[in-house]
Amino acid sequence: MERLQKVIAASGIASRRKSEELIKEGKVLVNGKVVDILGTKVSPKDIIEIDGKILEKEQKEYYLLNKPRGVITSTSDDKGRKTVIDLINTNSRIYPVGRLDYDTTGVLLLTNDGEFSNILTHPANNIDKVYLAKIEGIIKKEQIDMLKNGIKIDNAKVKASHVKLKKVNQTNNTCMVEITIHEGKNHQVKKMFEAVGFHVEKLTRKRIGNFQVNDLKSGEYRKLTPKEVQIVYSYKKSK
Ligand code: URA
Repeated sequence: MERLQKVIAASGIASRRKSEELIKEGKVLVNGKVVDILGTKVSPKDIIEIDGKILEKEQKEYYLLNKPRGVITSTSDDKGRKTVIDLINTNSRIYPVGRLDYDTTGVLLLTNDGEFSNILTHPANNIDKVYLAKIEGIIKKEQIDMLKNGIKIDNAKVKASHVKLKKVNQTNNTCMVEITIHEGKNHQVKKMFEAVGFHVEKLTRKRIGNFQVNDLKSGEYRKLTPKEVQIVYSYKKSK
């Protein structure tokens, strides 16, 4: 059961506020009867009618985007910057699953399916988020161990499930490190490296769960297959 205004808003025909107004104005019928009380719960079987039209339930949509640098991971931006939603051609109210910084690139999923999003972002589901970071300086085993054993950022203890030094550039004094985490705290990877004394110059998300960009170029996206969506749902059932 869901609240009526939420179901109307999720269908994409009106914002949450506008949906509430429609209800209060008596323009919404549930199974043929006017319902003008906010918060009334409806089930997927109920027939909702607005201004004489039956409400079509919004189809669930799922996208995998290779996020470019310089795009904000949000549904709108008060500074007028381009958002990841602007890159996807859809009329549905999709939103990003978790967040990537303005300057972070790589795998980003977008959907209008709240449960799908929750499964992927909930730390208890232990879904890998694998990043490749270019950092200033050369990391040592001792610092890698600190990342793996757990460090404090913003008063919370976080740890990496894997950390691997991939490449060292002695000339530029930089290195490439692959790091896998299961949470998605704000700026988590950058803060973790900062906590052990390194600045992240570049960051790319290589993988989330079973999703990688593969042959998608920067800014390109594709729809997920029903099988891929099912796999995400199976992560939840197995826990
Ligand atoms: N960690 C960060 O610091 N930034 C991101 O964009 C993602 C994870």
